[in-house]
Amino acid sequence: MHKKLFIPGPTEVREEVLKAQSKWMIGHRTKEFGELYHNCVTKTKEILNTANHVMWFTASGTATMEGAIRNIVDGKVLHCISGAFADRWFKISKACGKDAASIEVEWGKAVKPEMVEAELSKGSYMALAITQNETSTGVRLPIEEIARMVRSRFPDVFILVDAVSGLMGDWFEIDELGLDVVVASSQKAIALPPGLAVAVVSERALEKCRTVPARGYYLDYDAMMKRYDKDHQTPTTPAISLFYALEVELDHILAETMKSRYERHLELAKFTRDWAKRYFELFPEPGYESVTLTTVKNTRGISVKDLNTALAEKGMQISNGYGKKLKEKTFRIAHMGDLTLADMKEVTSAIEEILKL
Ligand SMILES: Cc1ncc(COP(=O)(O)O)c(C=O)c1O
Repeated sequence: MHKKLFIPGPTEVREEVLKAQSKWMIGHRTKEFGELYHNCVTKTKEILNTANHVMWFTASGTATMEGAIRNIVDGKVLHCISGAFADRWFKISKACGKDAASIEVEWGKAVKPEMVEAELSKGSYMALAITQNETSTGVRLPIEEIARMVRSRFPDVFILVDAVSGLMGDWFEIDELGLDVVVASSQKAIALPPGLAVAVVSERALEKCRTVPARGYYLDYDAMMKRYDKDHQTPTTPAISLFYALEVELDHILAETMKSRYERHLELAKFTRDWAKRYFELFPEPGYESVTLTTVKNTRGISVKDLNTALAEKGMQISNGYGKKLKEKTFRIAHMGDLTLADMKEVTSAIEEILKL
């Protein structure tokens, strides 16, 4: 039975997108695949209003988080930790043998520009890693303010952004903010099945990577761009079926327009937050709530497992809290991708009915 997904990834995938994956296979060393990949790159740039390089990897978002570190970091990197996924990125840097430091705030709170400024002022940092939309806490970091501060006070510092659960749902100007690397996964607001991940890379970041030794093989930006410039292909075998699906969804986003898509996400977020405040409390610090998911404080001590069992009978699923600190204390309702206000009304009414609210 089809369960409509209100979890923060994988998200609900439209039938047209699912069907696109069943097309006949083509060789990846063909003009046909080059055209498909090139279309995906061009359309992604148009949607994101960016002139930066776009690289689609056959991988999940974690790989592109690691890729950003391996390609760019050859000195000290500062991680802003406000939840489980930012913590993962910090661990990735360490696992790659990098000189990584962190500032950490209480989970549910946002890292503020002043905190980043104070730490970067200590000097010697060459990169900053920020999680734009922390999917565990449901906090949206003030990426615009942080980036503007970094660009004016520390112009040489590379800004690396994990926008895994924000990109193509939430909105921020990549080029205007001078973001050097922005990464995301296909199974979140892009509303595709899992398996693809994107890196949007500035020219100076691409140039930088060419000077970083031992940056690995699979996620090497230079190799990706060399192959793309040659014949619009990828260095290794791509998930061709997913690229078929990606082009269909990118066309859908272009038709909707990114502006309307963002406004729809804002509307769904507002509806879900208002609903959550009526019966529970919001977990994130006020003013920093995510646009693509709502993390709700479980003030009624409900069993999310039991709730999901009952929701499954109605063909829906929400998500429990994420990470040791939040698993029991919160639950999450995603409103990303192609979900509509009618979908949010459906799931919240079902919850009301099941919990007898
Ligand atoms: C903010 C954030 N970063 C990174 C990841 C990891 O992405 P993936 O599961 O595609 O590797 C997730 C996944 O939920 C996420 O929400």
